[in-house]
Amino acid sequence: MTASPRTSDYPVDKQFLDRWSPRAFSDKAMTEDQVLTILEAARWAPSASNLQPWRFFYGVKGTPEFDILLSLLIPFNEGWAKNAGALVFIASVTTFDGQRQNITNSFDAGSAFMSLSLQAHSLGLIAHGMAGIEYDKAPVVLQFPENLKLEAAVAIGYQGDVATLPDFLQTREAPSQRLPLSDIAFKGHFTGEIKAPA
Ligand SMILES: Cc1cc2nc3c(=O)[nH]c(=O)nc-3n(C[C@H](O)[C@H](O)[C@H](O)COP(=O)(O)O)c2cc1C
Repeated sequence: MTASPRTSDYPVDKQFLDRWSPRAFSDKAMTEDQVLTILEAARWAPSASNLQPWRFFYGVKGTPEFDILLSLLIPFNEGWAKNAGALVFIASVTTFDGQRQNITNSFDAGSAFMSLSLQAHSLGLIAHGMAGIEYDKAPVVLQFPENLKLEAAVAIGYQGDVATLPDFLQTREAPSQRLPLSDIAFKGHFTGEIKAPA
């Protein structure tokens, strides 16, 4: 994996700067065990009241499950994610105690996504989150019950050559920057204005 040019204002563990979301995948295959190892990491994420609302739906390239998940992405994502070694759809259970509404199910699923991403990174793999999904169609095809909310999808695999991407994506294939810490961390109450990335 190529090294990241990111730097931080305060010293943080290398993995937070080195992890990023390329779109170029190599054709090196992934095993189901690798996918399950990555999902095992996600399983250990924290959640409110330890409700563990995340649910994962995966397919390894070359299997019917992969093809079904791929067909549920919007065409833009399908174009590059078809080369991934595996696809994972992340959903969350919206209720607890049978019927009461969980208010942190999406927050908790996001935390599982980050564990997944960092575990993939530590295995030398890349993981690219995707909200470009057919959100109406996917829960039907994947047979979700009423209280399962589709959150996002992830393409996982070995990083490939940028030259395999179409031109318009080649120029975007680089680690991005972040808002400065001073724009997002407030000592006590909110001050200033909400700043958006450039
Ligand atoms: C929930 C979520 C949804 C995303 N959706 C898409 C997507 O549909 N297509 C895409 O190409 N990238 C998508 N991304 C990737 C983001 O654009 C990327 O994570 C962001 O620009 C930060 O870059 P980095 O992950 O390389 O640090 C998504 C990321 C997340 C976390």
